Amino acid sequence: MIKLDFTGATPFLEVGDLIPEAQVQKAAQDLYTGNGIGSKFTGWVDLPETYDRSEFKRIKSAAAEIKSESDALLVVGIGGSYLGARAAIELLRSPNYNLITKPTPNIYFVGNNLSAKHLSEIMHLLRDKNFSLNVISKSGETTEPAIAFRVLKNMMERRYGDVGARSRTYVTTDKNRGALKQMAEREGFPTFSIPDTIGGRYSVLTAAGLLPMTVAGVDIDRVMAGAYDAMKTYTEEHSMKNPVWQYAAMRQALYRKGKSIEVLACYEPAFRFMAEWWKQLYGESEGKDGGGIFPASVELTADLHSMGQYIQEGARTLMETVVSFDTFRRDIEVPLMAEDLDGLNYLAGRGMEHINAVAKRATMEAHIAGGVPTMELSLPDMDETAFGWLVYFFQLACGISGYIQGVNPFDQPGVEAYKKNMFQMLGKPGY
Ligand code: PA5
Repeated sequence: MIKLDFTGATPFLEVGDLIPEAQVQKAAQDLYTGNGIGSKFTGWVDLPETYDRSEFKRIKSAAAEIKSESDALLVVGIGGSYLGARAAIELLRSPNYNLITKPTPNIYFVGNNLSAKHLSEIMHLLRDKNFSLNVISKSGETTEPAIAFRVLKNMMERRYGDVGARSRTYVTTDKNRGALKQMAEREGFPTFSIPDTIGGRYSVLTAAGLLPMTVAGVDIDRVMAGAYDAMKTYTEEHSMKNPVWQYAAMRQALYRKGKSIEVLACYEPAFRFMAEWWKQLYGESEGKDGGGIFPASVELTADLHSMGQYIQEGARTLMETVVSFDTFRRDIEVPLMAEDLDGLNYLAGRGMEHINAVAKRATMEAHIAGGVPTMELSLPDMDETAFGWLVYFFQLACGISGYIQGVNPFDQPGVEAYKKNMFQMLGKPGY
């Protein structure tokens, strides 16, 4: 399914720079057998096989209920509690999902910032719409979604009464712990759980991602089937032929050679939130102990007219990973004009997809020539199966890459620093 081409990166490495196969093997084995650091949080490795089928059914019934009674679903969550769902909906449905004519509810993502402007605009949009709410928080205690939930719960109770509001509120949180779990039990909200062994940024294939995706009309059976095939393929190939091993090892080898920034590039705007999801995954997993590759992203060709200059000629600390899709459902031909006033007749009759593909090839060649090691990950199609594969590919590669780097890829102690300051400044009891 996924093809990895790293011929654009190898010229930047000598044989002695490569990560030895034994080291990659050990990192992978530690991950699969639960012997590595942070192994309490590796439940996502076999999730595509072991996921809770009865919860999966409940997700589908809840989505059907939401679709039947609401014009909109508010997804309240931050970080791993919203990025995966948003990535899937934008990639598989549309970045303009809320604007297109469709039989499924609009989806609004809130609780991922502290902006009153953002939240009040969405509340205003909902003034004459029926809506449901899915509040997602593994810890159940994160400030941003907790504030948004409190505000929206209030709005719902005024609109639908206590009983009506309760039946429209769906909670996704830890099975046993946290303020949100306690509130869900007290109020009797329908509740879904994120397994104990899966941290936020690895949770897209749990209810955290699957419920909003299903409401938006994404076929989650196909997502899980894609992830399952990826799991089988990548965890059963124990050699450097494995593209996951190759990707993890190449990026770590390049990092050791001073390429401390990885730019994820895609020529499809629908990929934007997939890149945001990827940045959280890699940034929180590897950015610790004073090291780690800084994950950045560009949307091409748009960013060739902003970040392109830096990538081509700025500090040579970059590596680039390009994600491509081979099949396109739609194309637009450049029309022939009697008068060639804009000078584009040389392109007449050619499809935009062809021109986009040429732009990609030309850019990759230019970047490599300019000193940017470049890898390309190609997927056959932009569909549910490919999404499941890609999620699994990146998660597995992240775990292995983190272990090669020598960090715990499953914690995020640094996230606490801002919270501590903020809570002190806000006068939270105990701070
Ligand atoms: O990867 C993680 O665990 C974090 O980045 C979380 O996704 C993020 O902090 C949101 O946490 P929670 O789901 O507990 O509200």
